[in-house]
Amino acid sequence: MDESYDVIVLGTGLTECILSGLLSVEGKKVLHMDRNDYYGGESASLNLTQLYRKFRPDQQPPSQFGRDRDWNVDLIPKFAMASGEFTNILYHTDVTRYLEFRQIAGSYVYRDGRISKVPSNQTEAVSSPLMGIFEKRRAKKFFEFVQGYDFNNPATHQGLDLNTVPMTEVYKKFGLEPGTQDFVGHALALHLDDSYMTQPAKETYERICLYMNSMARYGKSPYIYPLYGLGELPQGFARLSAIYGGTYMLNKKVDELVYEDGKIVGVKSEGEVAKTKAVIGDPSYFPDKVKKTGQVVRAICILNHPIPNTADADSIQIVIPQKQVNRGHDIYIAAVSYAHNVAAKDYWTAIVSTIVETSDPEKELQPAMALLGPIAEKFISVSDLYEPVADGRADGVYITKSYDATSHFETTCQDVKDVYKRVTGNDLKVEGKVKKQEEGGAGAE
Ligand SMILES: *[C@@H]1O[C@H](CO)[C@@H](O)[C@H](O)[C@H]1NC(C)=O
Repeated sequence: MDESYDVIVLGTGLTECILSGLLSVEGKKVLHMDRNDYYGGESASLNLTQLYRKFRPDQQPPSQFGRDRDWNVDLIPKFAMASGEFTNILYHTDVTRYLEFRQIAGSYVYRDGRISKVPSNQTEAVSSPLMGIFEKRRAKKFFEFVQGYDFNNPATHQGLDLNTVPMTEVYKKFGLEPGTQDFVGHALALHLDDSYMTQPAKETYERICLYMNSMARYGKSPYIYPLYGLGELPQGFARLSAIYGGTYMLNKKVDELVYEDGKIVGVKSEGEVAKTKAVIGDPSYFPDKVKKTGQVVRAICILNHPIPNTADADSIQIVIPQKQVNRGHDIYIAAVSYAHNVAAKDYWTAIVSTIVETSDPEKELQPAMALLGPIAEKFISVSDLYEPVADGRADGVYITKSYDATSHFETTCQDVKDVYKRVTGNDLKVEGKVKKQEEGGAGAE
């Protein structure tokens, strides 16, 4: 340990592991430490025994749930957009060689008390039960506009320059109802709130295109998910880092961060100091450098049936747009099953999450819980959300954000890109594939 590193990474949550993987690939000398004896930190996947130990230490898992090793329950469920930035990072770094991904069978949205598939093009809009007959026609025109839009060809603009007009103008032009705006903004464009409405429409347009392109990739939904659960991801990036000379140490307590003239110069652990120019880590390692921004409530639910009204989907994301249930934050359901090797045969896990708004967080999940049918077992947790108070450029300590309530990777990727830029000074570029044979050098393909 008495060595010198370019970067020391603290915590093996997914965000930290992606960063250490990316930096290792670029030739940085990386040391990665975690105080736990397992990978994943807050974003770990647990087997049944570990799950009960965490939430019900006084209970054994009931035998009806079958073999321990069949379960990999994500504490923080996330799906990846098939054509999104996260998938690009996986291909770019070649982490895909350690993992197998499968598509998520459905992407649904809640409107007027029922759930239905999120329509993603004009054909689907016309057949969607989410809209009445006249609204279907308006939505069809909207989707045709989005698909035909070309920034370089004003003939496709229908008088709307998406670089400048706000999204409200686009909705107005096509006469879309508030309930349709809800699913376009929250289930297709995956916005977290409605502030996008008054912003230039370009970003929303790009997000809708990302959804459509991801959808076109596999067909059933825009989302993919790794077999055996998300816990595979930190380990995949750890193996990647190791190939490029990175060092991983689990079960390693951090005693002290060592500074000189206000700049980080090392991390002390078990009496030894590892020297470094920069430290990256999750908020739990820096209690005095982060602020609490809110709380997220999650319910991990075990079901012995698919979620009702989802055509027996083996896996699904359901978004409940905030306004549909008079809230200020969306509620997300991410369900996976034995089809992804994360539960025993004929079992599903559905994780429901949202940002806490009241003093009774569990009750806030009710509109989502009511969609699940009978629940065999549930584990509720409320976690604090933290983010750094400073960008890290002054002291060389770069802190990631806690995982929010979303059930997709878009915000996590945003954080990866943000920290990457703060640490390296460059924008993250993930084009092409870097490849390294065990004996050879790195190069772009
Ligand atoms: C609309 O989406 C569905 C499902 O992805 C696809 O089968 C169909 O071909 C698409 N239609 C058009 C016109 O893009």
